[in-house]
Amino acid sequence: MTNEFQGNLGKYRVTQTHAGDWTIYSEFFDENCHSLEGSIAETDAVYIQGTELKAQAEQALREKRPLSILEVGFGAGVGAARAWNFAQTIPEQSVYFCSLELDADLARYALHLGPFADCFKAFCKVEHHNSWRVDYKNFHLHILLGDAKQTIRQLVDEGKKFDAFFHDPFGPQKNPSLWTVEIFQNLKSLTYPTSVLTTYSSAIAIRKAMLEAQWAIEEFPGFGLKKSSTRARPSGRIENALLEKLGRSPIGALRQHPGLVDGKVK
Ligand SMILES: C[S@@+](CC[C@H](N)C(=O)[O-])C[C@H]1O[C@@H](n2cnc3c(N)ncnc32)[C@H](O)[C@@H]1O
Repeated sequence: MTNEFQGNLGKYRVTQTHAGDWTIYSEFFDENCHSLEGSIAETDAVYIQGTELKAQAEQALREKRPLSILEVGFGAGVGAARAWNFAQTIPEQSVYFCSLELDADLARYALHLGPFADCFKAFCKVEHHNSWRVDYKNFHLHILLGDAKQTIRQLVDEGKKFDAFFHDPFGPQKNPSLWTVEIFQNLKSLTYPTSVLTTYSSAIAIRKAMLEAQWAIEEFPGFGLKKSSTRARPSGRIENALLEKLGRSPIGALRQHPGLVDGKVK
C-alpha cells in the first residue's frame, strides 16, 4: 500500500490510527478523515450505531422497501465498508448506500488501492461519468461525484428519500459550506418521518444550523477525545438543557456566503 498519493484536491497520506486501522489525511483540508483513535470504531459508534441502523432496517423491511443510507463524504470508504459489513447481517434485505464525493481520484484510490479496498474487491464496479455503481449481493453502493452542495440538490429534485444520513464531510471550520442551514434544509427534504442523521461534530454553529433547518437535535456520546456528537431527526422533542446551552452562546448558525468556494474560505 502506498503511503502518499496525489488526488484532484492535492496530496493525501494514508495514516495509521492508534487502534491499528487506517485513515486518510487530506493536505487540502488539513484534516484526517477519521479520529486517530480508530476509523472503524468511530464509524461504527457515530454512524452505524448512531443512526440506529438496525431499527432503520427493520422499519424499511416493514414498509417493504430497501434500507437507504446517504453519506456526505466517501473519503477512505470506511462508512461504505462498515455499511456493507452491516448489510451482510440482513441478507434478505436490499441496502442502497449513496455516497457524495468531490474528489474522484480519492474515491478511485479508496475503492481500488486504499486501506479498505479489500472489502470492495468482489464488487462489480461500473464507472459512468460522475455516477459510479458498485454492487455485491444485497449491497448497492452509488458514488455520486461532484460538489455535495449540488448533488444533494440533485437528490432532492429526484425525490429521493433516505433512512439514515452519515454526515461526514471535513469539519465545519475547514469545510463550512457543507454545514449550513441551507444544506440541512435540503437534507431534511430527503427524510422519512423516522430517518436519523448523525455527525461526529458537536459545534454550536452546526447545531444551530440544524435547528434553524427544523431538525430535532440531540447529543449522544462522542468518540475518542470528543465529548459529544450530534443526532438529528425530522421531528421530536429537544431537551431543554441543550436548547439553553445553545441559547447561552453568542455563536450564530453557519450560513452560506459568497466567500466560500469548494469548501474553502476565499
Ligand atoms: C471526513 S472524509 C469522509 C470519510 C468517509 N466517510 C469514510 O468513512 O472514509 C470527508 C470527505 O468529504 C469530501 N468532501 C469535502 N467537501 C466536499 C464537497 N463539497 N462535496 C463532496 N464531497 C466533499 C472530501 O473529499 C472527503 O473525502
